[in-house]
Parts: sequence; structure tokens; C-alpha cells
Amino acid sequence: MQKLALAGKYTLVTGASSGLGLEMARIVARDHRGHLVLVARRIDRLEALAAELRTAYGVEVECIQADMTRREDVTRTFEEATRGRVIHAAILNAGVTYFGRGLEHGFEDFSAMLATNVTSVVWLTQRFAQHILTESPGGGVMIVSSVAGTTATPFQAAYSGTKAFLNNFGMALGEELVGEPVSVTVFVPGGIATEMGEKSGTGRKFKKGDVGMMDADVCARRAVLGLLRRERFVIPGALNVLNDLLLRFTPRGLASAMAARIYRDALPPKP
Ligand SMILES: NC(=O)c1ccc[n+]([C@@H]2O[C@H](COP(=O)([O-])OP(=O)(O)OC[C@H]3O[C@@H](n4cnc5c(N)ncnc54)[C@H](OP(=O)(O)O)[C@@H]3O)[C@@H](O)[C@H]2O)c1
Repeated sequence: MQKLALAGKYTLVTGASSGLGLEMARIVARDHRGHLVLVARRIDRLEALAAELRTAYGVEVECIQADMTRREDVTRTFEEATRGRVIHAAILNAGVTYFGRGLEHGFEDFSAMLATNVTSVVWLTQRFAQHILTESPGGGVMIVSSVAGTTATPFQAAYSGTKAFLNNFGMALGEELVGEPVSVTVFVPGGIATEMGEKSGTGRKFKKGDVGMMDADVCARRAVLGLLRRERFVIPGALNVLNDLLLRFTPRGLASAMAARIYRDALPPKP
């Protein structure tokens, strides 16, 4: 299959109201003159981004307010996105983490994480891949995962589990679809300087500009390139690639213990 081309076609981006998703949407509009469907809960932010991109790059941008923890919002996202419109690429990026001791992770919070990071992604991947196969052959789906899914990551145990799921799900589905006119890319970043660090508390230790922390726009550029090239599994940044390589030859227990050391001192003090 040829490289994916986004010009004049619609790309859907979930989690486009901040961080990586917002930067990927900007790149699709600015560098590829692609039209967009932006999805998140904070509609004011989506509308502001949409106005910026329409004015600056003359592209069409639609916004859908949806909460990926709500089943009806997930199905409505697909219906609204494809009503009278053909989606050529879907970037499933919305995600949340929980940083803290795994035994203290509450049921409601865990259920919301599972719905956002896993259930909605599986459902939307299936729907958009099928839609692309019939309506826009040659398009692609990109799932945003994390290096936390390649190493069991203490203090983000459930998050690490959801991203391990995405790594395997995306790779396995991509293999099933080899030879079909739709590609599945799994994007696997390490630390990115975004709101996620502030919301979860990891920002106490990992700050923008630190070694190993990528800027969101740099990371987004690599992500969109991976989607266009139809790469199956993309780890951005030389340091993350090197880490991944070394960890393949490291006993799993040792890798997990090293991750625990890195994260333990970012934990809030015990009350
Ligand atoms: N930051 C990192 O270090 C890092 C590292 C590896 C992987 N990642 C992954 O990269 C992706 C983007 O994260 P980010 O770093 O850009 O974080 P971010 O700035 O917090 O952005 C998260 C995005 O997801 C959306 N979102 C969260 N919960 C949602 C829900 N229930 N329904 C709909 N949208 C929801 C948010 O929008 P609203 O709040 O407006 O709904 C926001 O646009 C995530 O999948 C994350 O796991 C991040």
C-alpha cells in the first residue's frame, strides 16, 4: 500500500483538547492540509482549536463533545463523525492515567480508565477500520499507547495494563489486516510534557525539558509520520528506542524494579 495521504480528507482525533492530540491535529491541518473531526469533553477548547485551524490553514474542522467513559457518547462519536462525511484516518489518542499505589486505586476511577483507554478504543478501532475499508480504502487507524505498556510499570499498574492491552490489540489486529486497504499503527511514546503529568502527579518529578521528556509537538510529528508511513509499532525518540532495545534483554522483574525506582519518589507523601 502507498503512503497514507491526508490532504483534503478527514482525520478524526480523540483527545484533541490538549497535549499530544491537540498537536497532532495541528500537524494534520498545517503540514498536510487535512480536514479534521476533533473529539473530547472540553468543547470550548476544541472550538478554539477549530477556529485557529480554519483561519490559519483553510481546512474544515468539526467538533464532537463526547465522554469516552459513556457508551452512548462513544457510539455517537462514530455516528456523528461519519454522518455525511468520510473519515480517512482515525487517531484514537484520548487516555488517562492513575499515578499512585495500586491498592488504593478506586473502582470508579479504574472503570473510567478502562472505558477510556481500552473499551472505547477497541470499539472505535473496529468501527473506523470497517468504515475505511468500505468508504475510504487506503486510510488508516492509529492507536496511542505508551511505553508503560511494554514494561510492567509500578505506581501506574492499571494504566500500564491498559497500554499493554493496546500494544497487543493493535499489533494483532494490524496483522489480521495485512493486505487489506487499511493500516493499523500503534504509537508508543515515553514521557511527554502535557497536562497528564499535572493531573496525575507525575509532573512533580518529570518536567518539560528534562532528559527523556519529549515536547508534545515533537512527539506529535513522529506520530503523524508513523501513521502516514503505515508503521506498525512506533516508539518516538532515540532514547525511548534505545530503552526499548535494552529492556528486551533485561529480566522482566529487574525492568519493573527499575521503573519502580524511577516513579517511587514522585509519589505524594503518605498522609
Ligand atoms: N503524557 C505522557 O507522558 C504520555 C506518555 C505516553 C503515552 N501518553 C498517551 O498519550 C495520549 C494523550 O495524552 P496527553 O499526554 O496528551 O495527555 P493530556 O494532555 O491529559 O490529554 C488527554 C486527552 O484525552 C482526553 N480525554 C481524557 N479522558 C477523556 C474522556 N473520558 N473522554 C474523552 N476524552 C478524554 C482529554 O480531553 P478532555 O479532558 O477535554 O475530555 C485530552 O484531550 C494518552 O493516550 C496517553 O496515555 C502520554
